Amino acid sequence: MKKYTNINDIKNVTEIIKEALELKKNPFQYEELGKHKTLVMLFFNSSLRTRLSTEKAAKNLGMEVMVLNVNDAWNLEYEDGTVMSLDTAEHIKEACQVLSQYADIIAVRAFPDLKNKEKDESEFMLNSFLKHATVPVLSMESATAHPLQALADAITIEELKNKKKPKVVLSWAPHPKALPQAVPNSFVTMMQKLDINFSITHPKGYNLNPEITKNTRINHNQEEALKDADFVYVKNWSSYEKYGKILSEDTNWMMTKEKLGHAKFMHCLPVRRNFVVEDAVLDSNQSVVIQEARNRTYSAQVVLKKILENL
Ligand code: CP
Repeated sequence: MKKYTNINDIKNVTEIIKEALELKKNPFQYEELGKHKTLVMLFFNSSLRTRLSTEKAAKNLGMEVMVLNVNDAWNLEYEDGTVMSLDTAEHIKEACQVLSQYADIIAVRAFPDLKNKEKDESEFMLNSFLKHATVPVLSMESATAHPLQALADAITIEELKNKKKPKVVLSWAPHPKALPQAVPNSFVTMMQKLDINFSITHPKGYNLNPEITKNTRINHNQEEALKDADFVYVKNWSSYEKYGKILSEDTNWMMTKEKLGHAKFMHCLPVRRNFVVEDAVLDSNQSVVIQEARNRTYSAQVVLKKILENL
Protein backbone atom coordinates (compact mmCIF):
# COMPACT_ATOMS: atom_id res chain seq x y z
CA MET A 1 0.00 0.00 0.00
CA LYS A 2 1.45 3.39 -1.00
CA LYS A 3 -0.91 5.54 1.09
CA TYR A 4 -4.20 5.31 2.98
CA THR A 5 -6.40 8.35 2.56
CA ASN A 6 -9.50 6.66 1.15
CA ILE A 7 -11.28 3.32 1.45
CA ASN A 8 -10.50 2.74 -2.22
CA ASP A 9 -6.79 2.45 -1.32
CA ILE A 10 -7.67 -1.02 0.02
CA LYS A 11 -7.29 -3.64 -2.73
CA ASN A 12 -9.32 -6.36 -1.03
CA VAL A 13 -11.56 -5.41 1.90
CA THR A 14 -12.35 -9.01 2.94
CA GLU A 15 -8.66 -9.88 3.11
CA ILE A 16 -7.64 -6.78 5.05
CA ILE A 17 -10.40 -7.40 7.65
CA LYS A 18 -9.16 -10.98 8.03
CA GLU A 19 -5.58 -9.77 8.41
CA ALA A 20 -6.62 -7.17 11.00
CA LEU A 21 -8.35 -9.89 13.03
CA GLU A 22 -5.17 -11.99 12.88
CA LEU A 23 -3.21 -8.99 14.21
CA LYS A 24 -5.74 -8.60 17.00
CA LYS A 25 -5.03 -12.19 18.09
CA ASN A 26 -1.27 -11.64 18.02
CA PRO A 27 -0.46 -7.89 17.90
CA PHE A 28 3.32 -8.20 18.27
CA GLN A 29 4.05 -10.74 15.53
CA TYR A 30 5.45 -8.00 13.22
CA GLU A 31 7.32 -5.95 15.81
CA GLU A 32 10.53 -6.11 13.73
CA LEU A 33 8.81 -4.64 10.66
CA GLY A 34 8.75 -1.08 11.98
CA LYS A 35 12.13 -1.13 13.72
CA HIS A 36 14.03 2.16 13.09
CA LYS A 37 10.99 3.55 11.27
CA THR A 38 9.18 6.66 12.50
CA LEU A 39 5.53 7.68 12.29
CA VAL A 40 4.96 11.42 12.57
CA MET A 41 1.36 12.25 13.46
CA LEU A 42 0.10 15.77 12.78
CA PHE A 43 -3.10 16.97 14.39
CA PHE A 44 -4.86 20.08 13.12
CA ASN A 45 -7.87 19.03 15.25
CA SER A 46 -8.66 17.30 18.54
CA SER A 47 -8.61 13.53 18.97
CA LEU A 48 -8.75 10.88 21.65
CA ARG A 49 -9.19 7.53 19.85
CA THR A 50 -7.34 8.24 16.62
CA ARG A 51 -4.31 9.63 18.37
CA LEU A 52 -3.91 6.85 20.90
CA SER A 53 -4.97 3.88 18.74
CA THR A 54 -2.71 4.91 15.85
CA GLU A 55 0.23 5.41 18.22
CA LYS A 56 -0.45 2.03 19.83
CA ALA A 57 -0.71 0.38 16.40
CA ALA A 58 2.63 1.86 15.30
CA LYS A 59 4.32 0.77 18.55
CA ASN A 60 2.90 -2.77 18.15
CA LEU A 61 4.81 -2.82 14.85
CA GLY A 62 8.01 -1.61 16.54
CA MET A 63 7.84 1.96 15.16
CA GLU A 64 8.90 5.18 16.85
CA VAL A 65 6.13 7.77 17.06
CA MET A 66 6.28 11.58 17.13
CA VAL A 67 3.14 13.65 17.62
CA LEU A 68 2.79 17.32 16.66
CA ASN A 69 -0.30 19.37 17.51
CA VAL A 70 -0.10 21.77 14.62
CA ASN A 71 -1.41 24.66 16.72
CA ASP A 72 1.99 24.53 18.43
CA ALA A 73 3.85 24.88 15.11
CA TRP A 74 4.08 27.66 12.52
CA ASN A 75 0.94 28.70 10.65
CA LEU A 76 1.04 27.01 7.26
CA GLU A 77 0.40 28.56 3.85
CA TYR A 78 -1.20 26.33 1.19
CA GLU A 79 -1.62 28.71 -1.77
CA ASP A 80 1.02 28.79 -4.47
CA GLY A 81 2.54 32.14 -5.35
CA THR A 82 1.20 33.95 -2.27
CA VAL A 83 3.04 36.95 -0.87
CA MET A 84 3.36 35.66 2.69
CA SER A 85 3.05 39.00 4.43
CA LEU A 86 0.16 38.05 6.75
CA ASP A 87 -0.33 35.27 9.35
CA THR A 88 1.26 32.28 7.62
CA ALA A 89 4.92 31.74 8.45
CA GLU A 90 5.80 28.54 6.59
CA HIS A 91 4.73 27.15 3.21
CA ILE A 92 3.37 23.61 3.05
CA LYS A 93 6.03 22.85 0.38
CA GLU A 94 8.91 23.24 2.81
CA ALA A 95 6.95 21.88 5.78
CA CYS A 96 6.13 18.60 4.00
CA GLN A 97 9.64 18.12 2.68
CA VAL A 98 11.12 18.83 6.11
CA LEU A 99 8.67 16.46 7.84
CA SER A 100 9.69 13.80 5.33
CA GLN A 101 13.27 14.06 6.63
CA TYR A 102 12.10 12.89 10.06
CA ALA A 103 9.23 10.55 9.15
CA ASP A 104 8.91 7.28 7.25
CA ILE A 105 5.13 7.75 7.29
CA ILE A 106 3.20 10.98 7.90
CA ALA A 107 -0.28 10.75 9.41
CA VAL A 108 -2.55 13.81 9.19
CA ARG A 109 -5.85 14.84 10.78
CA ALA A 110 -7.38 17.87 9.07
CA PHE A 111 -11.12 18.55 9.37
CA PRO A 112 -13.14 20.77 7.00
CA ASP A 113 -14.31 24.20 8.12
CA LEU A 114 -17.78 23.48 6.58
CA LYS A 115 -17.93 27.01 5.13
CA ASN A 116 -16.79 26.46 1.57
CA LYS A 117 -17.94 23.15 0.06
CA GLU A 118 -15.73 23.38 -3.01
CA LYS A 119 -12.64 24.12 -0.91
CA ASP A 120 -13.40 21.32 1.57
CA GLU A 121 -14.11 18.84 -1.23
CA SER A 122 -10.79 19.72 -2.88
CA GLU A 123 -9.13 18.21 0.22
CA PHE A 124 -6.51 20.95 -0.17
CA MET A 125 -4.78 20.16 3.12
CA LEU A 126 -4.55 16.39 2.74
CA ASN A 127 -3.73 16.69 -0.96
CA SER A 128 -0.93 19.17 -0.19
CA PHE A 129 0.65 16.51 2.00
CA LEU A 130 0.18 13.91 -0.73
CA LYS A 131 1.77 16.28 -3.25
CA HIS A 132 4.73 17.56 -1.29
CA ALA A 133 5.64 14.81 1.19
CA THR A 134 8.22 12.35 -0.07
CA VAL A 135 6.99 9.56 2.24
CA PRO A 136 3.60 7.78 2.42
CA VAL A 137 0.65 9.65 3.91
CA LEU A 138 -2.02 8.22 6.21
CA SER A 139 -5.31 10.04 6.79
CA MET A 140 -6.47 10.22 10.39
CA GLU A 141 -9.67 11.94 9.14
CA SER A 142 -9.78 14.56 6.44
CA ALA A 143 -12.44 16.97 5.17
CA THR A 144 -14.46 14.24 3.47
CA ALA A 145 -13.29 10.85 4.75
CA HIS A 146 -12.35 8.89 7.87
CA PRO A 147 -11.07 5.63 6.39
CA LEU A 148 -9.42 4.28 9.57
CA GLN A 149 -12.74 4.55 11.40
CA ALA A 150 -14.67 2.81 8.61
CA LEU A 151 -12.19 -0.05 8.55
CA ALA A 152 -12.55 -0.48 12.33
CA ASP A 153 -16.34 -0.49 11.89
CA ALA A 154 -16.14 -3.18 9.21
CA ILE A 155 -13.86 -5.28 11.44
CA THR A 156 -16.42 -4.95 14.28
CA ILE A 157 -19.33 -6.03 12.08
CA GLU A 158 -17.33 -9.02 10.84
CA GLU A 159 -16.57 -10.06 14.45
CA LEU A 160 -20.16 -9.73 15.63
CA LYS A 161 -22.36 -10.77 12.73
CA ASN A 162 -24.34 -13.94 13.35
CA LYS A 163 -25.78 -14.33 9.89
CA LYS A 164 -24.16 -14.38 6.46
CA LYS A 165 -25.76 -11.16 5.23
CA PRO A 166 -26.67 -8.90 8.18
CA LYS A 167 -28.90 -5.86 7.85
CA VAL A 168 -26.90 -2.68 8.57
CA VAL A 169 -28.56 0.74 8.78
CA LEU A 170 -26.84 4.12 8.98
CA SER A 171 -29.20 6.36 10.95
CA TRP A 172 -28.80 10.16 11.14
CA ALA A 173 -29.03 11.66 14.64
CA PRO A 174 -29.53 15.20 15.93
CA HIS A 175 -26.54 17.19 17.22
CA PRO A 176 -26.20 20.71 18.62
CA LYS A 177 -23.16 21.48 16.42
CA ALA A 178 -22.64 21.23 12.66
CA LEU A 179 -20.51 18.15 12.03
CA PRO A 180 -18.66 17.01 8.87
CA GLN A 181 -19.79 14.21 6.55
CA ALA A 182 -16.41 12.41 6.74
CA VAL A 183 -17.47 9.52 9.00
CA PRO A 184 -20.75 8.70 7.19
CA ASN A 185 -19.04 9.09 3.79
CA SER A 186 -16.41 6.49 4.63
CA PHE A 187 -18.90 4.23 6.41
CA VAL A 188 -21.15 4.23 3.32
CA THR A 189 -18.21 3.54 0.99
CA MET A 190 -17.05 0.68 3.19
CA MET A 191 -20.53 -0.86 3.59
CA GLN A 192 -20.99 -0.82 -0.20
CA LYS A 193 -17.98 -3.14 -0.42
CA LEU A 194 -19.34 -5.71 2.06
CA ASP A 195 -21.82 -8.49 1.38
CA ILE A 196 -24.54 -7.02 3.60
CA ASN A 197 -28.05 -5.57 3.37
CA PHE A 198 -27.27 -1.84 3.75
CA SER A 199 -29.48 1.24 3.84
CA ILE A 200 -29.44 4.81 5.14
CA THR A 201 -32.13 6.71 7.03
CA HIS A 202 -32.12 10.47 7.54
CA PRO A 203 -34.52 13.41 7.53
CA LYS A 204 -35.15 15.17 4.22
CA GLY A 205 -32.39 17.66 3.38
CA TYR A 206 -29.61 15.47 4.75
CA ASN A 207 -28.65 13.58 1.59
CA LEU A 208 -24.95 12.83 1.55
CA ASN A 209 -22.91 13.38 -1.62
CA PRO A 210 -24.81 11.33 -4.26
CA GLU A 211 -21.47 10.33 -5.81
CA ILE A 212 -20.81 8.49 -2.54
CA THR A 213 -24.27 7.09 -1.75
CA LYS A 214 -24.78 5.98 -5.40
CA ASN A 215 -27.58 3.38 -5.43
CA THR A 216 -27.70 2.80 -1.66
CA ARG A 217 -31.34 2.74 -0.43
CA ILE A 218 -32.38 5.85 1.51
CA ASN A 219 -35.53 5.85 3.61
CA HIS A 220 -36.77 9.02 5.32
CA ASN A 221 -38.92 6.95 7.68
CA GLN A 222 -36.54 5.93 10.49
CA GLU A 223 -38.89 3.41 12.10
CA GLU A 224 -39.45 1.61 8.81
CA ALA A 225 -35.72 1.64 7.97
CA LEU A 226 -34.68 0.18 11.33
CA LYS A 227 -37.09 -2.77 11.19
CA ASP A 228 -35.22 -6.07 11.78
CA ALA A 229 -31.80 -4.36 11.65
CA ASP A 230 -28.81 -6.31 12.98
CA PHE A 231 -26.52 -3.27 13.26
CA VAL A 232 -27.53 0.38 13.57
CA TYR A 233 -24.75 2.91 13.01
CA VAL A 234 -25.82 6.24 14.44
CA LYS A 235 -24.15 9.45 13.31
CA ASN A 236 -24.95 13.10 12.89
CA TRP A 237 -23.83 15.08 9.88
CA SER A 238 -24.67 18.61 8.78
CA SER A 239 -26.46 19.19 5.49
CA TYR A 240 -24.43 18.50 2.37
CA GLU A 241 -26.84 20.33 0.07
CA LYS A 242 -27.17 23.45 2.29
CA TYR A 243 -23.54 22.94 3.08
CA GLY A 244 -22.62 22.84 6.76
CA LYS A 245 -26.07 23.92 7.94
CA ILE A 246 -28.15 22.37 10.74
CA LEU A 247 -31.62 21.98 9.20
CA SER A 248 -33.24 19.89 11.89
CA GLU A 249 -32.71 19.46 15.61
CA ASP A 250 -35.61 17.04 15.62
CA THR A 251 -34.95 15.11 18.82
CA ASN A 252 -37.26 12.35 17.57
CA TRP A 253 -34.28 11.08 15.56
CA MET A 254 -32.30 10.31 18.75
CA MET A 255 -31.60 6.58 19.06
CA THR A 256 -33.60 4.86 21.80
CA LYS A 257 -33.68 1.31 23.12
CA GLU A 258 -37.16 0.90 21.67
CA LYS A 259 -36.10 1.94 18.16
CA LEU A 260 -32.94 -0.15 18.27
CA GLY A 261 -34.93 -3.37 18.74
CA HIS A 262 -32.48 -6.29 18.83
CA ALA A 263 -29.77 -4.56 16.80
CA LYS A 264 -26.23 -3.78 17.92
CA PHE A 265 -25.61 -0.06 18.42
CA MET A 266 -22.58 1.41 16.66
CA HIS A 267 -21.04 4.90 16.85
CA CYS A 268 -17.53 6.18 16.14
CA LEU A 269 -17.44 8.28 19.38
CA PRO A 270 -17.28 10.80 20.90
CA VAL A 271 -21.05 10.76 21.41
CA ARG A 272 -23.41 13.13 23.23
CA ARG A 273 -25.56 11.14 25.64
CA ASN A 274 -29.32 11.73 25.59
CA PHE A 275 -29.07 13.96 22.51
CA VAL A 276 -27.67 11.52 19.92
CA VAL A 277 -28.47 8.32 21.84
CA GLU A 278 -30.14 7.65 25.15
CA ASP A 279 -28.27 6.27 28.16
CA ALA A 280 -30.30 3.06 28.06
CA VAL A 281 -28.67 2.17 24.72
CA LEU A 282 -25.09 3.12 25.56
CA ASP A 283 -25.28 1.39 28.93
CA SER A 284 -26.73 -1.81 27.50
CA ASN A 285 -24.90 -4.84 26.14
CA GLN A 286 -26.28 -3.97 22.67
CA SER A 287 -23.77 -1.11 22.48
CA VAL A 288 -20.53 -2.12 20.75
CA VAL A 289 -18.90 1.31 20.75
CA ILE A 290 -16.03 0.23 23.01
CA GLN A 291 -15.27 -2.74 20.76
CA GLU A 292 -15.24 -0.37 17.77
CA ALA A 293 -12.78 1.90 19.60
CA ARG A 294 -10.60 -1.11 20.41
CA ASN A 295 -10.64 -2.13 16.76
CA ARG A 296 -9.26 1.28 15.79
CA THR A 297 -5.88 -0.10 16.88
CA TYR A 298 -6.09 -3.04 14.48
CA SER A 299 -7.44 -1.01 11.58
CA ALA A 300 -4.46 1.35 11.97
CA GLN A 301 -2.05 -1.55 12.51
CA VAL A 302 -3.04 -3.46 9.40
CA VAL A 303 -2.80 -0.30 7.29
CA LEU A 304 0.59 0.70 8.76
CA LYS A 305 1.82 -2.87 8.20
CA LYS A 306 0.82 -2.72 4.54
CA ILE A 307 2.51 0.67 4.07
CA LEU A 308 5.69 -0.51 5.86
CA GLU A 309 5.83 -3.61 3.64
CA ASN A 310 5.86 -1.32 0.61
CA LEU A 311 8.61 1.08 1.79
N1 CP B 1 -13.73 8.29 16.30
C1 CP B 1 -12.68 9.13 16.34
O1 CP B 1 -12.05 9.42 15.29
O2 CP B 1 -12.38 9.58 17.57
P1 CP B 1 -11.38 10.78 17.90
O3 CP B 1 -11.96 12.03 17.24
O4 CP B 1 -11.35 10.89 19.39
O5 CP B 1 -10.04 10.48 17.33
